[in-house]
Amino acid sequence: MYKILKAGKLAGNIYEMVVEAPRVAKHCLPGQFVIVKMDEVGERIPLTICDYDREAGTITIVFQPIGASTEKFTKLQAGDAFRDFVGPLGMPSDLCTEPLEEVKKKKILFVAGGVGTAPVYPQVKWLHEHGVDVDVIVGAKTKDLVILEKELSEVAGNLYVTTDDGSYGRSGMVTKVIEDLVTNEGKVYDHCVAIGPMIMMKFCCLTTKKLNIPTIVSMNPIMVDGTGMCGACRVMVGDEVKFACVDGPEFDGHKIDFDAAMKRQAMYKTEEGRALLKLREGETHHGGCGNCGGDK
Ligand code: NAD
Ligand code: FES
Repeated sequence: MYKILKAGKLAGNIYEMVVEAPRVAKHCLPGQFVIVKMDEVGERIPLTICDYDREAGTITIVFQPIGASTEKFTKLQAGDAFRDFVGPLGMPSDLCTEPLEEVKKKKILFVAGGVGTAPVYPQVKWLHEHGVDVDVIVGAKTKDLVILEKELSEVAGNLYVTTDDGSYGRSGMVTKVIEDLVTNEGKVYDHCVAIGPMIMMKFCCLTTKKLNIPTIVSMNPIMVDGTGMCGACRVMVGDEVKFACVDGPEFDGHKIDFDAAMKRQAMYKTEEGRALLKLREGETHHGGCGNCGGDK
């Protein structure tokens, strides 16, 4: 069992928990994720790691309830425990594994949208601790939904907060701020990392393509096993079939067909859709995990 040490609301319907998971905390790196199960029969929920403390043996997770399982998570309190807390899964961020001297040469921009701010924070923190200060744009619908502003302000080179409704910080979506910084404020970037809802990552990539800034995105498609077996998290990166759980979650955003990824995400939610995907995707759909029904 994995004890919850702290549980509470960060903002709106965004929740934060600190969980005792020493083995995950010892080995994880920014960019990786965990799969969490509340009890024996619970659904497996992939969640990005927002922070970790190797000495205390804890992992901080941030989530938004989107289904029955995550809704149940919101009722958990300090002292309760998760049945399973599997990780670290996925590949760490390239920026944390590339030679540091190469990373230090880059002018890096992070773009965080809504709950996607949670996976951005550990990367920016890790880079700061290794002598690399990056610029960060944080976007939220409205003032009350801005998360981790204080934490990011302590580790970012420059932090730009923007709200869609203009209630706090700059006004407008993150893509507007990218454009403003580069086109009107003389900023130069040669690497961008954009993490947030799929639609945001799509438009960030269209913007950075125009501005000629290579861009990495973190894909969070539906996941079942998280170990490359079920095929649920299949994404096309250019002409290549990739699985977000083992090959990602980070990929070259300029090679992703976001419209296809969003369509697939919607189709995967119905049994009929999964059966159709199986037909189209053949061997790479895998199936057979007994969970998705796409093999029926
Ligand atoms: P949101 O809808 O509030 O959007 C956050 C910000 O993204 C907005 O404030 C805006 O600046 C930008 N944005 C949204 N649509 C845009 C568009 N069309 N063009 C340009 N910019 C746009 O975000 P939310 O409600 O916090 O998002 C929840 C979603 O984020 C869920 O679907 C969840 O799955 C996803 N998510 C993704 C990751 C990941 O790793 N990619 C991590 C956590 C959550
Ligand atoms: Fe990635 Fe199953 S979740 S292959």
